[in-house]
Amino acid sequence: MLARGTDLLAAEQAAGTAIAAFTVYTLESIRAVVDAAESCERPVLMSVGASSYRVTGARELAAAALAAAESASVQVGVHLDHCTDEAEITRAVELGYSSVMYDGSALPFDENVERTAAVVARAHAEGVWVEGELGALAGDEDTSTGVAAREMTNPLQAAEFALRTGVDAMAVAVGTVHGLSAVPMLVDLNRLAAIAAGTSTPLVLHGASGLPDNNLTAAVGAGVVKVNVNAELRNAHRAALAEALSQDGDDLLRIQRTAVAAMTTVAAEKITTLSREEQPT
Ligand code: 13P
Repeated sequence: MLARGTDLLAAEQAAGTAIAAFTVYTLESIRAVVDAAESCERPVLMSVGASSYRVTGARELAAAALAAAESASVQVGVHLDHCTDEAEITRAVELGYSSVMYDGSALPFDENVERTAAVVARAHAEGVWVEGELGALAGDEDTSTGVAAREMTNPLQAAEFALRTGVDAMAVAVGTVHGLSAVPMLVDLNRLAAIAAGTSTPLVLHGASGLPDNNLTAAVGAGVVKVNVNAELRNAHRAALAEALSQDGDDLLRIQRTAVAAMTTVAAEKITTLSREEQPT
């Protein structure tokens, strides 16, 4: 079923677990994310991002994701990832997204606060929850560039940002980067704990691909409630396609099935890791 409202986030926060948000690009990745969530009997979010629908079309990919969410046996949210364009957010709300991210992280602090608060007011009026971002992760969301973190989130500013914007979830920069990097990144758990101490707003970890499981679960233990994953799923998709293309020739259905199965395995592993209530440090 399509998950509306912030109950999902509240439930994860109360349980000390996190919901996975996977970036989807194709019908196959949509199928895999829903299959994984159903097999784990866990809720999930699909990030139908402002960049990931560039090729397929926003309306088309969102419609597919919403249809898959509605017929799922578990709760599935459809989320607009990283959007800097307020008109695009309005369109996503009209298309039926259950949540949106306004990414004002490149703006000066006060402008980020003002613009994010305005998005929150408009989205809330339509029953859509909002993620904001403070601090900036380096890297491209759709490729792995392996560059270092740009600007870590200041814990004091984070508390003020959450209060002044009224966001339902707040993405913070605590050491990760978007995509896989040559040098393994780790979450700065002390910074994360300091941010979490100053606000009860659910925290979001971007750039989770490639993190060791114990660092990821420790981040959940320190207050992360939503975890964004793209590169690991994307790589599973590409690797499965490469292998299937070399083995299955022109049998497109077999190739699709192989891709879905590979992505389902990766997504289910991540969902399982994030569902562990006992968080080792
Ligand atoms: P990764 O590609 O590192 O998993 O990051 C995904 C992400 O944060 C999307 O917003």
